[in-house]
Order: sequence, then structure tokens, then C-alpha cells
Amino acid sequence: MPYRETSVTVAGLGSAVPDRILTNGDLERMVDTSDEWIVERTGIRQRRVAAPHEATSDLALAASRKALSDAGMDPADLDLIIVGTVTPDMPFPSTACLLQAALGARRAAAMDLGAACTGFIYGLAAAEGFLASGRFRTVLVVGAETLSRITDYEDRSTCVLFGDGAGAAVVRRATSVGGGLLSVYLAADGRGAGILRLPAGGSRRPADADTVASRQHFIRMDGREVFRFAVRAMVSAVKESLRRAGLRVADVDLFIPHQANTRIIDTAVRMLGIPPARVFHTIEAYGNISSASIPVSLDEARRRGRLRPGDTVLLVAFGAGLTYGGAVLRWEAAVPGASAAGEGGAAGSPSGTDSNPQERTQSMT
Ligand code: UT7
Repeated sequence: MPYRETSVTVAGLGSAVPDRILTNGDLERMVDTSDEWIVERTGIRQRRVAAPHEATSDLALAASRKALSDAGMDPADLDLIIVGTVTPDMPFPSTACLLQAALGARRAAAMDLGAACTGFIYGLAAAEGFLASGRFRTVLVVGAETLSRITDYEDRSTCVLFGDGAGAAVVRRATSVGGGLLSVYLAADGRGAGILRLPAGGSRRPADADTVASRQHFIRMDGREVFRFAVRAMVSAVKESLRRAGLRVADVDLFIPHQANTRIIDTAVRMLGIPPARVFHTIEAYGNISSASIPVSLDEARRRGRLRPGDTVLLVAFGAGLTYGGAVLRWEAAVPGASAAGEGGAAGSPSGTDSNPQERTQSMT
């Protein structure tokens, strides 16, 4: 039985990235790397980096304002704000509360959600649950990151990968039969927590002079292990999300995977038999922006005319935790603001490119 009765829909989308571009050429001057290595091993050509005065909530605010305007809604209409992030402005108060104040969303409850790169899909699932309960009518789901703040620009194995940005979606009850969120699937495997982490700055290892000197406040990652997990997780999440929606790979018009590495995407897509032309990429322009990766890509796909009313879209992500998951959406109608196609990429910056785990699960149903 397809997962349908409590479906919700995306009523508006928005995204924002900082103006500053960090190219592979720039990184060649910072660490022992090359444009050729980065492009061949990751598919990334450039990424956006926040200015010193820009924090995660600033990017979230810009994306959220666009999403609200796209939905034709006012901040006062929001009942709940969920921000997925691993780079909050500070440990507390939550970035969602800072965003609530900045937006003037005075009726909205607000909370952050920690599911790393799967944060937007976890946020969608949480929104779906709150909407299904009848408690709320309108939820703002945001994925926002300033990964440049926790990236070690002396470590060539990680610094080439990450960027900054934010994407937001206004989520409401589905308005038409057959539209909206057709399925959602969440999973986690905490046994893999050690392969992708920020070692210090929490209760296990509070910040002190030693943690700073030994660079423990930056992302640490076993890239090869994450790569292996990522392929398994994507394949598993795609299959389970489709099964729950009662659909097959051939039914999907557009696949929007988490943008971590083109080779991860290509490998999973090949294993699943997904036609490459149906896979949407933004990694070349933005790198890996963790929880913002999916909503920024969804917004770009819509603005570039890759999402048409009635299209079936599959979102799939994996990340630290380890977490992974997927969601299937039926794109309901031309969203107000879709005419903005051609205005450029997220936040008016150059658009991205159009080039083109295991079975132990913790599901929400
Ligand atoms: O959102 C989830 C976050 N993370 C990910 O998804 C990351 C998943 N993993 C990956 O994307 C890939 O593992 C990386 C891109 C991180 C690395 O690619 P790889 O093909 O797995 O390379 P590797 O780690 O096996 O390293 C191969 C070589 C090594 O040199 P030796 O030991 O063979 O001499 C590395 O030292 O490449 C070297 N290397 C680099 N060379 C030039 C590592 N980073 C760089 C670099 N430039 N930036």
C-alpha cells in the first residue's frame, strides 16, 4: 500500500549561497592538490564560502524569505521551523530560533535537527509527522550550512570537498489527490559514527588549548569508508523509498541525490539502472553543502525547468551519524516564482551545472 494518506506538499522553495567563490585553482595555492585531481575524483570545480560576517542563520534567512515569497506566504503563517544543520551559529540557542526572530515568524515553534547531510530529508519527514498529527498547518524546513567554518584548509583530503549554502521549503498538507510526498524513508547506523566527525567542542572533548592546537575542531573523515557506505546507503534508500511509494526506477522523472562526490552518484546510479539524464547535479558549482545540498538542488532544478507539474522526484541522501534516507515527491503544480528560471543560481549567483548500506533500518512508519 503506497504511503499516501498523510501526504504533504512543497508549497515554496528558496536557496541562497554566499557570493565568494573558492575555485580549485585557489585550493592549488593553499594545499598540495590540483584542479585535475579534484575534478576527476570528486566532480567539484568550485564551492561557495561565507564571508566572515555571514553565519548559518544568515544564509538560512535569505533562503527562507525566498521560499516564503515563492509560496505566497507570510512569516506569520508559519507554525514550525526546522533547521537541519551541523554548523549552527552556536550550540544554543538553536539556529531555528535565531531564524524565527530574524524572519519575524512570531507564531512558529522552532528547533534544529541533527542528521548531517540527511538533515533535509529528516526535516521533511518530521514536518510530515507534525502535519499529519493535525497540530500544525505550515512548516518551514531548512538545510543550512557554513561548512567552511569547520573545514581544515591544511588538510587536502577534506578541504576540497565542502562549501556553504542554504535551501528552504515551505511544507503544507497536500492539496490534491496524488500530489505531494509519496513516501519517506529514514535510516541510521550509529556503528559508523567514527568515520565522519568533528572530534572536539562537545561534552566528550570540550574545547581547550590542546584541542585547538591539534586541529580537533575541524571535520575528520575516512574518505574511502564514507565512500563505501555512501554507495550502499544510496542504493538501499532509493529502493526502499520507491517500494514505499509503490513505484519503480522507471517511474521517476528526476533523481536528486546528495551532492558529495560525482563518483558516488555515478556508481549508485549505475547499480540502480537509473538513466544518467534523469540525475540532477549541482556539485560542480557548490561542492558538498551537507543538509543544504538537496534543497539547493531541488530549487535549482525547479528554476532550470527540470521539474514539471506531475513529475515524480526522488531525493536521496547519506551523511554523518551515519544517517541516510530518501523521499519521493510528486511535483504538484507550477510553484509561484517558477518564472524566475534563468535568473541565475541560488541567491542570484552563477547557477550550478546541468552536466550532466545495509538493510538495518530505523524507519518512521
Ligand atoms: O557528505 C558526506 C561527506 N563525505 C563524503 O562523501 C566523502 C566520500 N569520499 C570521497 O569522496 C573520496 O574518498 C575522496 C574524494 C575524499 C578521496 O578520493 P579517493 O579516490 O577515495 O582517494 P583516496 O583517499 O584513496 O586517496 C588517493 C590518493 C592518496 O595518495 P596516495 O596515498 O595514493 O599517495 C591521497 O593522499 O590521493 C591523495 N589525495 C589527494 N591528492 C591530491 C587525497 N586528497 C587529495 C587532493 N589532491 N585533494
